[in-house]
Amino acid sequence: MTILLEMKEIHKVYPNGTAANRGIDLTVREGEIHALVGENGAGKSTLMKILFGLEAPTSGTIAYRGSPLKLQGPRDAIRQGMGMVHQHFMLAPSLTVAENIVLGDELRRGPLSMFRDQLKEQDEIRKLIETYGLKVDPLEKVEHIPVGQKQRVEILKVLYRGAKLIILDEPTAVLTPQETDELFHSIKALIGQGHTIIFITHKLREVMEISDRVTVLRAGKTIATLETKNTNQEEISRLMVGRDVLFSVEKRPAEPKDTVLSVRRLNAVNEKGAPVLRDVSLEIRQGEILGIAGVEGNGQTELVEVLTGLHPASSGEALYFGENLIGKSVAEIRAMKVGHVPEDRQTSGACLTSSIAENLILDHYRNPEFTWGPFIHKKKMKEFAKVMMQLFDVRAASEEAMAGSLSGGNLQKVVIARELSKNPKLLIASQPTRGVDIGAIEFIHREIVKRRDGGAAVLLVSAELSEVMSLSDRIAVIYNGEIVAVLDNDESLTEQEIGYYMLGVKKQQKEVAAP
Ligand SMILES: Nc1ncnc2c1ncn2[C@@H]1O[C@H](COP(=O)(O)OP(=O)(O)OP(=O)(O)O)[C@@H](O)[C@H]1O
Ligand SMILES: [Mg+2]
Repeated sequence: MTILLEMKEIHKVYPNGTAANRGIDLTVREGEIHALVGENGAGKSTLMKILFGLEAPTSGTIAYRGSPLKLQGPRDAIRQGMGMVHQHFMLAPSLTVAENIVLGDELRRGPLSMFRDQLKEQDEIRKLIETYGLKVDPLEKVEHIPVGQKQRVEILKVLYRGAKLIILDEPTAVLTPQETDELFHSIKALIGQGHTIIFITHKLREVMEISDRVTVLRAGKTIATLETKNTNQEEISRLMVGRDVLFSVEKRPAEPKDTVLSVRRLNAVNEKGAPVLRDVSLEIRQGEILGIAGVEGNGQTELVEVLTGLHPASSGEALYFGENLIGKSVAEIRAMKVGHVPEDRQTSGACLTSSIAENLILDHYRNPEFTWGPFIHKKKMKEFAKVMMQLFDVRAASEEAMAGSLSGGNLQKVVIARELSKNPKLLIASQPTRGVDIGAIEFIHREIVKRRDGGAAVLLVSAELSEVMSLSDRIAVIYNGEIVAVLDNDESLTEQEIGYYMLGVKKQQKEVAAP
């Protein structure tokens, strides 16, 4: 097989002193799917930014199609036939899908851009959509399409520019299992048309399923490159983390006590007025984890938003120790010791232009522990941040580093650390381990169980059915805005059984769900 890309001895030290790459070698063959794995902060995104011309390496060489590659910026990389879909999307929400795809493509438009042929552009876009099975409506505004489709737009954008080598940075982190399957189909179609893919993921079963080879990074260095068919998840995780990782959660049976949250006949509509929650009733008690299972887009996001004050309810109540949360503001609810790990940490979980320390106390800065008259006690704040960073294994230059400079998974750890450090009586965790490496998943799971054992009530929402099943004591299945079953999570419960409810094939009698 021809070697397409060879990166050798890549080093990258960021201006703040962080050594993100400390001698990385990566060889990619033409036409392969090459998985790139490693813990949060291992240097994966940095390496790809270097390849795509977004960051300059401190030292090291890159050869592409047999010649040395020197990039001034991403435009050079695009000209060489590379494309990158970032971990965090970069689309213009108020433009249409088609407009986003062609946006900034000066390469093709030339000086006559005023007269560009929009019909031809749309035709080309439609062809790409069909060839690669990347289903989206070119005329829809990007702000109105779900995440999975936004990602397709990013991929189309890259293809529209003629990319042959495509870098996908954690493409499945935001996808439902169904969307992941569809993406994999598209990836296979791309390979069939002669493209080459570099694929970053934390999900080792995806590595096993789709890649030809896998390169493991640890702490900025290449540990190994393996043929996927000659390895397994255990070996890869050991190479990544440097120890064996437990894939199951150790926990005792729950000992639930008083009711913490009692949701009764909750209804809500979306911005178009369509019902998204229909008569939802639930109970969560101290010392138990209630997991919500469901295909994404069936109301779980809205349920969490209503309970945390981010979305209005049209009727019903949510009694938290007897007090109705409905009608209260986000700040009021947070002050009531309700912890919330939001689904989208980039926009609602963290302030990217503040330091890690500031983010860690974002919510309790009024706490006398951190104040000194009207001022924030900087020293105490920093001490607290140091402890939390160590406890939660947040890898960054220091507690003063900007949250925006953190790797994706480390930012998630900051949000989790902040929410758990409040000692919430009710913890609402949405996709708590999205984008987090396997070692950290193990840790976060253990922490959630610890809160439960300490008497907190936990509401867990996750697109990963395996996560819901391994953590929850009871599982409520949501379908089309309705709780269609509440099941005890004992040995006899199977994924298949839950699947029937998730797809609306089966439904429990109402009395079971509503007290
Ligand atoms: N712009 C930046 N300035 C300073 N440090 C940075 C910057 N970008 C990344 N880093 C640091 O470089 C290290 C590697 O980050 P990188 O984003 O490459 O990790 P990653 O392997 O992609 O992790 P994840 O799986 O969490 O996405 C981290 O310690 C991160 O905090
Ligand atoms: Mg990354």
